[in-house]
Amino acid sequence: MASRVIPVEPFDLVIFGGTGDLARRKILPALYRRFVAGQFGADTRLIGAARTAMDSAAWRDLIAEALDEFTTGAGDGATREAFLAMLSYVTLDARGEEGWTALSGQMRDDRIRAFYFSVAPALFGDLAERLHLHGLIDETARIVVEKPFGHDLDSARALNRTLAQHFCEHQIYRIDHYLGKETVQNLMAIRFGNVLFEPLWNSQYVDHIQITVAETVGIGGRAEYYNHAGAMRDMVQNHLMQLLCLIAMEPPARFAPDPVRDEKLKVIRALDPVAPGDVVRGQYGGDGTQPDFRTQAGHGDSTTESFIALKAQISNWRWAGTPFYLRTGKRLRARTSEIAVVFKDAPHSIFGAEAGRHRNILTIRLQPNEGIELGVTIKEPGPGGMRLIDVPLDMTFAEALGPEEADFPDAYERLIMDVIRGNQTLFMRGDEVEAAWAWTDPIIAVWQAEQEPPLPYDTGSAGPEEALMLMHRDGRRWREIKP
Ligand code: BG6
Repeated sequence: MASRVIPVEPFDLVIFGGTGDLARRKILPALYRRFVAGQFGADTRLIGAARTAMDSAAWRDLIAEALDEFTTGAGDGATREAFLAMLSYVTLDARGEEGWTALSGQMRDDRIRAFYFSVAPALFGDLAERLHLHGLIDETARIVVEKPFGHDLDSARALNRTLAQHFCEHQIYRIDHYLGKETVQNLMAIRFGNVLFEPLWNSQYVDHIQITVAETVGIGGRAEYYNHAGAMRDMVQNHLMQLLCLIAMEPPARFAPDPVRDEKLKVIRALDPVAPGDVVRGQYGGDGTQPDFRTQAGHGDSTTESFIALKAQISNWRWAGTPFYLRTGKRLRARTSEIAVVFKDAPHSIFGAEAGRHRNILTIRLQPNEGIELGVTIKEPGPGGMRLIDVPLDMTFAEALGPEEADFPDAYERLIMDVIRGNQTLFMRGDEVEAAWAWTDPIIAVWQAEQEPPLPYDTGSAGPEEALMLMHRDGRRWREIKP
């Protein structure tokens, strides 16, 4: 099987914040890989724009270094040169006049134009305003905005209002890179492409669902941002929320932007408020070789959490009574993201109590080692009566599809091409983001009122003990965090 590449029309893409970390690590490498794959031709302009004074040659050098670091082995020398030749740079002031005329001069009228706001959200309004003043917003224009989309409901609303002054909703692409991950999209394929699971996908058959996004990295060089955000704002409000939506939503009538986003929104709006006792916050300690959170954050008394575990409930016909346990954290035992759908026990065991308790579990491994696994109960081979054991029906995509086919593109590759194609299915709509904040804000407000520090946990652990208790007290347990 060879991957199919459907070319997009030539385009002009301006990357505001073109010298920044995201541009270097993700955006330009993703564009390069798509260029190598033949998804767009050399008749495309990639324009970096930032405050740093430099010329196009210097920006090309900067990006060339980034390609060396982040796209090892992709493309030959000529392809790399052709890609770099598409790059140009404008020194630009988002809040002043510098650079805007030069930028206008580089944009072509007969091309799709996209503007990537890879800058602090405080500049979104200024950029939108200047784009408008300089007549750069034509009918093909679209903007891409990065998370964090606001800090709470009020700021998200304000941002939505600011952008709406110059752009229609269909021109705004709010990125959540989890939606660009192949395996996350696979959630929808597994659910809605098979007849097998959907009849069982409800509280009658599903005991509970666990969503784990565990990381081994700490807050590293992003201390300032992270200390202000914490795991709730950085991961739960967006990435875990999106996973929960895709698992819980009703089948949309079509795989198209608004039908999908309407269904996700309904899930978020059906979430119950979370009781304070159903949330566990943690903060990692040092381990002798790596500093603890507070040292890394540069705030000895930081009360920001690097770990969250919580129990969410959805009040609708499909899910009432089936809890969703969400957990994410940094410096945990392994880097692993998975969703486990734990089915209920069979209503009656014909094998008697001695056969023990057996449950089917469908595990969707998002990363690494992407795949799905269905735990089924069988007879333990051999004589000695009817003893039951659980075995996995395991499909690792790399084995099932072949290594080439399972060499999934980075999320940004898919998402940036979707921007050019004009497909918003995998982007968050304004009302969705606001609804997600409306759910997380009250949880955060309780912490702020109580001023309780998060619970400490060891680097390399599964988070604070209390997170285990969150499930134990319900007679359930987390799946092990293992590589
Ligand atoms: C980002 C968060 O959105 O996602 C980071 O800001 C986190 O804190 C990252 O590390 C995780 O993404 P991935 O793709 O490595 O799972």
